[in-house]
Amino acid sequence: MLKTKDLGYWYQTANEPLFKNVNLEFETGQSYAILGHSGTGKTTFLSLIAGLDQPKAGEITLDDRSLKQIGLTAYRRHHVAIVFQAYNLFTYMSPLNNLMTAMAITNASHAGDTDYARQILRNLGIGEDQMTRNVQRLSGGQQQRVAIARTMACDAQLVVADEPTGNLDEDNTRAVIAQFQKIAHDQHKCVIIVTHEPDVAAQCDHQFRLENKQFKALDPA
Ligand SMILES: Nc1ncnc2c1ncn2[C@@H]1O[C@H](COP(=O)(O)OP(=O)(O)OP(=O)(O)O)[C@@H](O)[C@H]1O
Ligand SMILES: [Mg+2]
Repeated sequence: MLKTKDLGYWYQTANEPLFKNVNLEFETGQSYAILGHSGTGKTTFLSLIAGLDQPKAGEITLDDRSLKQIGLTAYRRHHVAIVFQAYNLFTYMSPLNNLMTAMAITNASHAGDTDYARQILRNLGIGEDQMTRNVQRLSGGQQQRVAIARTMACDAQLVVADEPTGNLDEDNTRAVIAQFQKIAHDQHKCVIIVTHEPDVAAQCDHQFRLENKQFKALDPA
């Protein structure tokens, strides 16, 4: 579904590319983990496939249409859901309203369905009283889970997450990865996660390591 073709990126200030000639394919119904040392360009790669920035070389296609053709604004609104470390929640709203608003803005098939939103939040361990509290009065890990819930509520086929378990303890890490696997396998979406934790990566269907400017597929253990 999502392909990178000879993808390359470098920041103006650096004289070396972060990565180049990257050719990868990501399918719906599958989850992918991207590992790699700090500063290798994992977040930068996610920002390209999330349509937040444009490649310096090559292109990214979704079902054989380039993101440029689709238009980055339309792509971000309808095709991709993002969980970044800084959560990107609507900070002046409750978790429930975050989901309801996101579904309304993106014209999701469950727009207006409060029970659906509540069920998703409940599955991620957000209790009834937390659902209606301002998200700023939730812990970092709870906010992270609301961000994940929001991707589940919407229809975007591609879900990208940057260190989604970075703020979580072991139990919540397991719960969150289980939800991501559900998003991939039950909702038939494509999930791409950046993580530093080999254990988390091992639970995804596929693993890549960004090293020496290339993405290497890791053989299943
Ligand atoms: N806006 C920017 N301008 C110039 N250089 C940048 C910019 N953003 C990031 N970089 C540099 O590009 C490199 C890759 O950054 P990136 O955030 O993609 O790494 P990362 O693999 O996600 O690292 P981490 O695991 O620490 O999150 C780093 O060396 C970083 O300092
Ligand atoms: Mg990063």
